[in-house]
Parts: sequence; C-alpha cells; structure tokens
Amino acid sequence: MNDVLSLYAKSPRLTRAFLRGRVFLSDLEFVESFVPREGTVIDLGCGHGLFANLLAVRGPGRQVKGVDIDCARIEEARRTIGRRANVDFICSGFEELDVSGCAAVTIADVLYLLPFADQVRLLRQCHGKLAEGGMLVWKAQERRPRWKYFFTYLQELIATSSGLTKGKRSRLTFMSREQAVAAMRESGFETRIVEMRSWRPYTDVLFLGRKKTPGGIEAESCLGGNLASSGSLKYLDLQDISRL
Ligand SMILES: C[S@@+](CC[C@H](N)C(=O)[O-])C[C@H]1O[C@@H](n2cnc3c(N)ncnc32)[C@H](O)[C@@H]1O
Repeated sequence: MNDVLSLYAKSPRLTRAFLRGRVFLSDLEFVESFVPREGTVIDLGCGHGLFANLLAVRGPGRQVKGVDIDCARIEEARRTIGRRANVDFICSGFEELDVSGCAAVTIADVLYLLPFADQVRLLRQCHGKLAEGGMLVWKAQERRPRWKYFFTYLQELIATSSGLTKGKRSRLTFMSREQAVAAMRESGFETRIVEMRSWRPYTDVLFLGRKKTPGGIEAESCLGGNLASSGSLKYLDLQDISRL
C-alpha cells in the first residue's frame, strides 16, 4: 500500500497517521481484489479517498468516483489526484449522485453510521446505479463473534464521539449477517458472503452482490478478474445464503 499512501505525502500529518492506521487495521487490498477491473466504480463514503485511490492505482481500466458528504475530506482527497485521469472525488450524498450503469459500487466501513432503514434504502440505491451484472462490494462488520463485536463497537463509538468520523454515536447500527443478506436480496442482489478472517479484533465481513441479469452469469465472473484468474479462489469461503 506504500504506493497509495505516498499520494498523501503532502497531506497534514494527522491525516497521514490516520490513513496509515487504516491500512494496518483494515485489509483493503483483499477487498479491492473483488472489484471489477473495468468500468465506472463508485466508492460510497470514500472519506479521504484511500480505498478509491487503491482502486484507481491497481485498476487503470477503472474509472473511480469517490463520494462523501464530508467536503473537507473530499478536498484532501482531491489533492492526491495529480495528473491521474481515472479518479475523481465528489462532495455529495450518495443518494443525490446522478449516475447509472456502473460496473460496481464499493462500500468500505460506512453503513453502520446510518439507521437501519437508511442502510436498506442505500442498498436499494446502489442497485439502481448499477448496470445489469454490476457488482456491489460491501465491506461491513457483523455482530459475531461477540468479543470482536465488542472491540468493533467500542472503536467506532470512540471515533464518532471524538469527531474523527462523522456520525452520531446513538446511530451506530451494525446489521447481523442475516439482516445484511436479507436486505441485499430484497434490493435485488444475488448475494455471496466472503469471510475476512484475520488477527484484527474486528468482525469484518465482505458481502458481494450482483445485480441480476435476465440471462444470468456464472458466479465466478463476479469475483473480480484478478482474483478469479490467480487461482486463489480456494482462499475464499463462500456460503450459500440459503443455509442462513
Ligand atoms: C468510517 S468513514 C470510512 C471512509 C472510507 N470508506 C475508508 O474506508 O477509509 C465513513 C464515511 O462515510 C461517509 N458517509 C456517511 N453517509 C454517507 C452518505 N449518505 N453519502 C456519502 N458519504 C457518506 C462519512 O462522511 C465518512 O467519511
């Protein structure tokens, strides 16, 4: 990730320290490997643009748009663009963003800041902004195992209470795995779960949703070209949601 972090060389020291912490505590490269390599990719709640920049640097064929309601963060993100043409940052609520036919929408650690009903509404809007066969790549935290959930909740409580993350502490809403899958299905996605097992004390989990096409596509084509072709599929633990 040093290549991506180096884009922030002129950012304030606090931002650089924050982003280094993000890289250490969150396996964003793993998430990136599931995102389609071509087409328009919207990163919902991009913050300082770390994940959006990762997507753009690793995938020159992607046209990445990072979107966030925090205009100060968007300003910082914009300063990293330089001469690159495949990434842009927009200060806007995702809801207001006028795009359609996207190859993917990515969400990394965002929805828990919103009430349950708003999360469901945003998932529906993701579906609306995708092309047929487009992918939702949603990194979230679930409520199990309990001891990790305790750390996850505590950290986010501190982050929102201190103002580090915009959000109301009374509004931290982590969906259970079952709720997330139900919400994705209800929004019209074919859904898969990818376990994100790691030493980190968080309940990280990756939800993959594919907007259904009339003809249907083989599931593996949804998993990101680089990963599917690297033979590392054995590394995945895909669960059939019908078992939930
Ligand atoms: C915890 S930060 C995650 C930032 C980034 N995704 C990352 O991985 O570093 C959550 C971000 O979501 C943004 N956000 C929350 N609701 C949003 C919405 N409806 N539209 C766009 N951004 C939103 C917040 O402003 C905040 O910057």
